[in-house]
Amino acid sequence: MEMQNKIHQKFLACFGEGGTMYASAGRVNLIGEHTDYNGGYVFPGAIDKGIMTEIKFNGTDKVNLYSLDYDAATSFGLAEEDKPAEAWARYVFGVCRETIKRGGKVAGFDAVFAGDVPLGAGLSSSAALESCFAFAINDLNQNGIDKFELAKIGQSTEHNYCGVKCGIMDQFASCFGKKGNLIRLNCKTLEYKYFPFDPEAAGYKLVLIDSCVKHELASSAYNKRRASCENAAAAMRKNHPDVEFLSDAKRLWLEEVRADIPEEDFLRAEYVIGEVQRVLDFCDALERGDYETAGEMMYQTHFGMSKLYEVSCEELDFLNKLARKMDVTGSRVMGGGFGGCTINLVKKELYKPFVDAAVEQFTAKFGHAPKVYDVVISDGARKL
Ligand code: GLA
Repeated sequence: MEMQNKIHQKFLACFGEGGTMYASAGRVNLIGEHTDYNGGYVFPGAIDKGIMTEIKFNGTDKVNLYSLDYDAATSFGLAEEDKPAEAWARYVFGVCRETIKRGGKVAGFDAVFAGDVPLGAGLSSSAALESCFAFAINDLNQNGIDKFELAKIGQSTEHNYCGVKCGIMDQFASCFGKKGNLIRLNCKTLEYKYFPFDPEAAGYKLVLIDSCVKHELASSAYNKRRASCENAAAAMRKNHPDVEFLSDAKRLWLEEVRADIPEEDFLRAEYVIGEVQRVLDFCDALERGDYETAGEMMYQTHFGMSKLYEVSCEELDFLNKLARKMDVTGSRVMGGGFGGCTINLVKKELYKPFVDAAVEQFTAKFGHAPKVYDVVISDGARKL
């Protein structure tokens, strides 16, 4: 409510009369990391931290934007050459451009926006921003673009305007998120299924520990991982033409091409093939109410992301090890990696001792405190 009020006050001050409010969400992902662009499964949910905007047509062909978090304003036109200089505004510009490319109408508008998704924590603040504007622009212009295409508008914005060759998971979660539900998405067929998720009822809590580490070269390292996966899939396709994505491959087929590809690509692919299966096993365990087995798989994912995919870092490995030592049910680096958070599934009675120990020991070792976020699985993009 407080954020909504601040946005509204600013909107009145900048643009006179008020407009319409929209919101969208960041996401967590329980399991299935770096599987989306490999045609595998992911298992995310939208969270109670997101982006909000107040927006109104202005009768011109220009967009006037104000970011409360950056306390900065900018304006841009809607043609390709009008790309704004500010990195934060490029997300909104990209969404406008991608909407137009799909035949949608984008009339000039004024907007003020703000968010409470921590930046660089791996909670997809950028997807929340893209989805919020993709949804709002679609709704206001009555374009009738469906929700999958709205998610793809956000993804293409990352590809074409922000330099990250990301998969569909973050924008999907942000557009399709539903309170109390995780969503398993098959990123190849785009079939999805909601899974009611209420860890508290089963005696568990979800907590994120943010290492506050951000790696400058994260997007180029991410794109490099993707290229390794595509290379491994292409090598297997020679013997097995059905391998469209890495997720179509079997472990044995990867073994066949081991000598033909760089060892690094082999290790990346080995992780992904294992991770795709783990999502299915994790969901089965969850449906049985077997949180302990599910948690164990989170540790397996961490191992793979750290040792095979190499997207963890010293700080995240430290948090993961501490979780293991304290008998936390499940723990792993979440999102793209290269810094950010661990996601932890922890028994209620262990919550406080774990969080206290993590803060104390991490601070002692690295000289800065980690941040702790409790998350609630919530709704995605919507009109308020
Ligand atoms: C980032 C990307 C997603 C996905 C994850 C890793 O969040 O935006 O598409 O690849 O990393 O699972």
